[in-house]
Amino acid sequence: MSKCLLYVFSGTGNTFLAASFIKDELTKLGYQVDIKKMEGDITPINIDAYDYVGIGFPIYGFNPPQVVMKYAKLIEKAKEKKKLFIFRTSGEPLMWNDIAAARLVKRLRKKNLELIIDKHLLMPYNIMFRYKDEVAKQLYLYLKVLCQLLAIQIDKEEKEEMKYSWYKRPLSFVARLVYVVPYVNAPIAHVNKKKCTNCELCIKACPTKAMHRNKKGKIKINHHCTVCMRCSMYCPSDAVRFGILSHWRVNGRYDFKNLEADPNVNPNYINKKTKGFFKLFRKYFKEQNALLRAHNIPLPIEYKEEEVL
Ligand SMILES: Cc1cc2nc3c(=O)[nH]c(=O)nc-3n(C[C@H](O)[C@H](O)[C@H](O)COP(=O)(O)O)c2cc1C
Ligand code: SF4
Ligand code: SF4
Repeated sequence: MSKCLLYVFSGTGNTFLAASFIKDELTKLGYQVDIKKMEGDITPINIDAYDYVGIGFPIYGFNPPQVVMKYAKLIEKAKEKKKLFIFRTSGEPLMWNDIAAARLVKRLRKKNLELIIDKHLLMPYNIMFRYKDEVAKQLYLYLKVLCQLLAIQIDKEEKEEMKYSWYKRPLSFVARLVYVVPYVNAPIAHVNKKKCTNCELCIKACPTKAMHRNKKGKIKINHHCTVCMRCSMYCPSDAVRFGILSHWRVNGRYDFKNLEADPNVNPNYINKKTKGFFKLFRKYFKEQNALLRAHNIPLPIEYKEEEVL
């Protein structure tokens, strides 16, 4: 039986969801899968017992979160070559997201991890603005089948062409400025006293322990923050004021399970006729539909004939 480690960071749950679907699908194919979260525990990771390592992360500014680069350092060099796959979630399909894993993959190669697949999975934004229910449902339904597809591709060791083109690198490099945000943001991020109920959910949920109570009893954020937006999204009172990112906060989780079950939420929002911002997504759906068809996996949505991508 092949063994697989899924080593995952997720701020607001999208990437954890992908990891749990990938685990289910690989398990169906006879793999033994362990999931390890990149939070808390900072101890070296020995991967000698595994055949495959899957690294999952959300894309921040066309790069992995800084915390992912830190946790990747904990992976000890394997005695023999292991197969590596990446799954990265992000809110939009801009081409600079393609290169998000390049630096990480280079680092992991030194640990004897050889890349077979780097999969981009679109999910709703947890920053900037909240996606409509229809789009969230469509992305969720696709996530499920794309994780099934990914498991099959891993099993068959189908290599996908990597899109690490040189011309995407400069913007990705500049966007690494996102790593500076916590230092600038921490002193001005705060909690709205009028709204806060002191439930401390944000403190308990923070993956880096950046959210804390100071000596004066005030809830504060320090520079260990990785800007994952978990505190802001999970706060039941919408009380987190996230400094320079306050206007970009998304409050309240996406309720994917209920959206899936709700027949009144049409999941066919992005189709051949879509205009505006979501027109950008058409290429992604078209490419994924082609891959799904090539692997005899039914599309998760029924399109009308004139809408099919
Ligand atoms: C600080 C930050 C930066 C982000 N930058 C990008 C980006 O460059 N491109 C993108 O498509 N999405 C970006 N996003 C959106 C997330 O990648 C997306 O919502 C992801 O699915 C969240 O995954 P999670 O729920 O596992 O944390 C960003 C989100 C945050 C919090
Ligand atoms: S989760 Fe929200 S309401 Fe609860 S302590 Fe934190 S800021 Fe206050
Ligand atoms: S303070 Fe909030 S945004 Fe920063 S790491 Fe903690 S939960 Fe994430």
